[in-house]
Amino acid sequence: MRILLTGKNGQIGSELHKILPQFGDVTATGRTEMDLTDPNQIRLTVRQVKPALIINAGAYTAVDKAESDFELAQAVNSIAPKILAEEAKDEGALLIHYSTDYTYSGEMRQRPYSESDSPTPNSTYGKTKLEGDNNIEKSGASYLIFKTGWVYSSNGKSFLRTILQLTKEKNELRVVNDQTGSPTWCRSIAIATGDIIRNLLTKKNGSLSKAVSGISGAYHMTCQGETSWHGFAQAILELTYPENMPKLFAISTKEYPTAAIRPPYSVLSNTKLQKTFGVKLPHWEHALKQCLNNTS
Ligand SMILES: NC(=O)c1ccc[n+]([C@@H]2O[C@H](COP(=O)([O-])OP(=O)(O)OC[C@H]3O[C@@H](n4cnc5c(N)ncnc54)[C@H](OP(=O)(O)O)[C@@H]3O)[C@@H](O)[C@H]2O)c1
Repeated sequence: MRILLTGKNGQIGSELHKILPQFGDVTATGRTEMDLTDPNQIRLTVRQVKPALIINAGAYTAVDKAESDFELAQAVNSIAPKILAEEAKDEGALLIHYSTDYTYSGEMRQRPYSESDSPTPNSTYGKTKLEGDNNIEKSGASYLIFKTGWVYSSNGKSFLRTILQLTKEKNELRVVNDQTGSPTWCRSIAIATGDIIRNLLTKKNGSLSKAVSGISGAYHMTCQGETSWHGFAQAILELTYPENMPKLFAISTKEYPTAAIRPPYSVLSNTKLQKTFGVKLPHWEHALKQCLNNTS
């Protein structure tokens, strides 16, 4: 099976790059191999590779920068997925794509979102990602959209790395405690994606795209449990500095203004994912311990 991966240098993409070779020949692309702002290059690459599976882990993820960079965010998050989906349809390939909890507003919310809840994003990033999801849905391609949130890694640009870096620069940290979500290790997402691909390959339907017949759609995929950014920071610090934890203070979102409005509550129910594929990601605290103990 030929597989085309985008975003090979990103948090999720680099983890996928490690596990995908067990399923077939992987053509892994980053910005230099296939620029997601260039529709012709996308079409040409897909037609050359002729994949049975396209995994789009590439995205414009600079949430605050997107507020003043709409066109670029839209090109990568909305138009590129549309073209990938059109090409997937023509090739008879399955498209796996990732979306975000920031497609939900999170206002007045106290129970986890399910896939049937209407997305009403507050930010440009969330809006362009939602457009991408809608474009895929309308394309007629076989697809799986995995909507995740609060993704972190031990080596990429992420909240975990930022907190650990700040402890070297500051005596005390201030982190918001009025936004709630589920911190999700990028490796947990890659493992779950691999388990789903394996599960689909065991179905005797001839092709991956046929194997999703009747289950093509969007699924929430996050680690279990919920916390605030402050709670997440506290867990990182307790595990990293068990003897002398740096001082950590809780602040409100108002005290830490950002260009993009974040959802105050964006916990995602994973029930549909578990029922459809029998796949459950670990609790966020368990995954965090594994990530911090991990050296590769
Ligand atoms: N991070 C989160 O908290 C989060 C939360 C929910 C959902 N998601 C979704 O999960 C997916 C993966 O996110 P991630 O955290 O792994 O993101 P990431 O680490 O920012 O990786 C995204 C990758 O996309 C690449 N990219 C950006 N613009 C490109 C372009 N024009 N052409 C080709 N490649 C381009 C980047 O390349 P460079 O390395 O060259 O910049 C980067 O390697 C995305 O769909 C994202 O929306 C992420």
